[in-house]
Amino acid sequence: MSTSSEKFLPVSQPDLSGREGDYLLEAFRSGWISSIGSYINKFERAAADAFECEHAVCVSNGTVALHLALRALDITPGDEVVVPALTFVATAAVVIHAGATPVFVDCDPEIGTLCPEAFARAVGPRTKAVIPVHLYGHPVDMDPVLDIAKSAKIAVIEDAAEAHGARYKRRFVGSMGTVGAFSFYANKIVTTGEGGLLTTSDARLAERLRLLRDHAMDPNRKYWHTEPGFNYRMTNLQAAIGCAQFERLNELISKRQDIAEQYRSRLSHLHGMRVNPSKPWAQPVISLNRVLRVKHAIPSSGRCTPDKSTPGRSSTLFRTFHLT
Ligand SMILES: Cc1ncc(COP(=O)(O)O)c(C=O)c1O
Repeated sequence: MSTSSEKFLPVSQPDLSGREGDYLLEAFRSGWISSIGSYINKFERAAADAFECEHAVCVSNGTVALHLALRALDITPGDEVVVPALTFVATAAVVIHAGATPVFVDCDPEIGTLCPEAFARAVGPRTKAVIPVHLYGHPVDMDPVLDIAKSAKIAVIEDAAEAHGARYKRRFVGSMGTVGAFSFYANKIVTTGEGGLLTTSDARLAERLRLLRDHAMDPNRKYWHTEPGFNYRMTNLQAAIGCAQFERLNELISKRQDIAEQYRSRLSHLHGMRVNPSKPWAQPVISLNRVLRVKHAIPSSGRCTPDKSTPGRSSTLFRTFHLT
């Protein structure tokens, strides 16, 4: 229980010190306060450019971004979707909302992201998709994940909610799979208050995402609905904040790197402590700071070591602390 004398430490505070207020007021005064308005297209273009994706489709939050991706890819009851055992609950919840079954697999003991070998073992005849999560801003080892998915003919839905601007071998997260999903919740690197985004290089998929986002209403024939869709739209007000945030993407990433550097300089000399470990192929960003207290040596192979005493659970070689 906290007392009034204890200082409240937020997970992360939004930085709205640029033109966020100006753009928001402009959108407000324009009267376009729902999901039509000039900032929507600008925001989608800014996101597509920043993450080097051909198409970006903004939605109301990161959870519905994942749900819309599953729906657009026709994931239905009876299907299985591979999900890392360590992630935010939404990654698995949306699979259940789609009527499919999440199949949990182990994660890398150092960086906490989906282990490609464990993914390969989990693929079966009912597997339709995998959701690699670029957790805490560190990218998943995507080459083996993409290879396995290609040979199994399954979709790759990158959960990049926490990894705006992170890169894997120079490629931006969200640009490598069938579709990428981002969150713009207030503790994320780029925020719109609530908000989400889907990215893809597949024009037909982008078109389908736009259709389903807006009640599956035929864009050329108002109030003509070919199937049940959703209202997963972002507002012009949210997009206005987001446009100002994207202007400052590099600054927002650097500010978090500076905080991470302070944790590294103050903690990494302690025995067994590792601050934000990363793989040589990764250009991560900092979403949350991770401090690992290594109890035993991490295997030099760097491979995942399933904890045999608790099947389905991640290795217990380390503990992760979230710090701001
Ligand atoms: C890994 C991950 N996936 C999905 C989400 C869901 O995003 P939102 O909170 O915008 O619905 C989050 C949000 O915290 C997340 O961290």
